[in-house]
Amino acid sequence: MTDDERQAALEAIAAEVRNCTRCRLHEGRTRAVPGEGSASTEVVFVGEGPGFNEDREGRPFVGRAGTLLATLLRSIGWRREEVFITNIVKCRPPENRDPAPDEIAACVPYLRRQLEVLEPALVVTLGRHSLGWFMPGARISQVHGTARPVDPSSGPRAALVFAMYHPAAALRTPEIERQSFADVASVPATLAAARARRSTGPAALEPAVPIQPEMTMTAPTPAQGARPTVTVTPAPDRDRPPAPAEPSATDAAADQLTLF
Ligand code: URA
Ligand code: SF4
Repeated sequence: MTDDERQAALEAIAAEVRNCTRCRLHEGRTRAVPGEGSASTEVVFVGEGPGFNEDREGRPFVGRAGTLLATLLRSIGWRREEVFITNIVKCRPPENRDPAPDEIAACVPYLRRQLEVLEPALVVTLGRHSLGWFMPGARISQVHGTARPVDPSSGPRAALVFAMYHPAAALRTPEIERQSFADVASVPATLAAARARRSTGPAALEPAVPIQPEMTMTAPTPAQGARPTVTVTPAPDRDRPPAPAEPSATDAAADQLTLF
């Protein structure tokens, strides 16, 4: 698909979302919030649902949580326009309550289609509800800052998913804010690992490196000089043995990864 075709497909999905009445959340919305960003991006950030400001503007992450998200991206040298940002539910839950399971079930087909169009190498979940869709059963306090293969049924092929706290939680708790900056520092190295997995062609659904439970990759982060840890664990439903190590993963950034 060309970028123009991706853009057109994303706009068609957004038009459906703006008119959607598939769940009760349409009743209270001012505007639906389909998501926005680059049609050629390799990275999609998935939050929970629109809040007060997002509902008014029809755009994701435009309030205080959005400002922090933009600051987190800046800390790794990225701009929000360069990625795609969307949510698990596209309409604001009343009083910002948690989205209900039936609302999530009604809305995720839009997310799945967006991910099929974008085919990102990396999905970054923001908060519990997004995590719950991409890593069912995982606890955010345990998996934040770690990646694992995405179940292809959630939309993207051969992608990694990386878990982060929700920026609104970081606004409430300084320790979570500190952790969020540490976690986002691992995103570029995780993207490099995600690209390396994909560059193996027909076997793309297999990891390019033998991903073992709790296998740890470390990479230097020029931004902070720290050595963050990216733990990649297999998807729970992966039943095939890992592919052999792939020496042809020559992406320059991926070369910096040290695999243990
Ligand atoms: N919180 C979210 O989860 N999504 C938004 O778009 C804004 C705030
Ligand atoms: Fe439709 Fe999703 Fe909005 Fe529900 S939350 S009305 S499913 S767009």
